[in-house]
Amino acid sequence: MVTATILLVDGDPSRCANWEALLLNQGCDVIAARSGEAALALCPRLQPDLVLLNDALPDTHGLEICRRLKADPRNRLTPVVLLAAAESVSSSLKARAAGADDFWGNPPTPWEALNRIQSLLQLKSYVDEQAESVIFSLSQTIEARDPFDGGHSARVSSNAVRFGKSLGGLVHDIGKIGIPDAILSKPAPLNAEETRIVEQHPVVGEQICSALKSFRHVLPLVRHHHERMNGTGYPDGLYGDQIPLLVRVLQIVDICDALTTDRSYRQTLSLPRALSVLYEEADRGWLDESLVRQFASLVVGSETLTALGNRVRFQGGHWSGSSPRGLMNHRRG
Ligand SMILES: [Fe+2]
Repeated sequence: MVTATILLVDGDPSRCANWEALLLNQGCDVIAARSGEAALALCPRLQPDLVLLNDALPDTHGLEICRRLKADPRNRLTPVVLLAAAESVSSSLKARAAGADDFWGNPPTPWEALNRIQSLLQLKSYVDEQAESVIFSLSQTIEARDPFDGGHSARVSSNAVRFGKSLGGLVHDIGKIGIPDAILSKPAPLNAEETRIVEQHPVVGEQICSALKSFRHVLPLVRHHHERMNGTGYPDGLYGDQIPLLVRVLQIVDICDALTTDRSYRQTLSLPRALSVLYEEADRGWLDESLVRQFASLVVGSETLTALGNRVRFQGGHWSGSSPRGLMNHRRG
């Protein structure tokens, strides 16, 4: 059997022990929950490959637990097998209505059980692969919608591989799929309602990616890529080290790419000017200053950085002190 994590939900200790022995013997990781409420709390965090749910639970009926598991987008792609106890009122019709992927009305033989579990795991693996390719296709669609944004996600990912390897670079803006074209490419500042819509995209993106186990580790990147070090970002207003390190890295790579690429609402900047903006944002308390310094030395080299001055400011030719008004609006989400 393929290596799998199985959430076993059963209030009966001896029945639980039998299932555990059978599955452990096949090389599965088995996590047991003794009540329905415990399963509801565990499942989204554990992201098991399959849930074996006995319908006779000490707190809530298995049908209700199945319904609530499937109502959570984070569990929607996780197969749930409902096992009917002898005194059960469950039926295959009720199980299907509750969202169960399989219903075992009679206790199967161990051989039958393992075969059916194997089939469900293979199906789950196939669905995950398809869902991943859909998410990557959507990411490319987002780039195609904004002619000024072409290649942004791919470049962010490529740079992030150099500076803090992450799949999140490819999918961090997936939530933009819900933003109308008229807002994404509006060649003028956004009004309050448009800003509110744009600021929903990290949460929308997290919801899109949350059903996939393989994307679990990039969820913080998707949700938090617009947080700021001083707590004024969105959607959660995280402060300082509360923002995961990889997120702070990706923000820097993301902004640098956005600034050095032509957008409908602003002109392309040279790399040194883009670095200057990064320092400005660190001064404002938005970015992690020590990471900005490391990033600058990585992309321009320490010699060039020294020649530019240790804060990469442009006293003579372009601007000094604060960035020109409007330049800070370099990202549309
Ligand atoms: Fe974004």
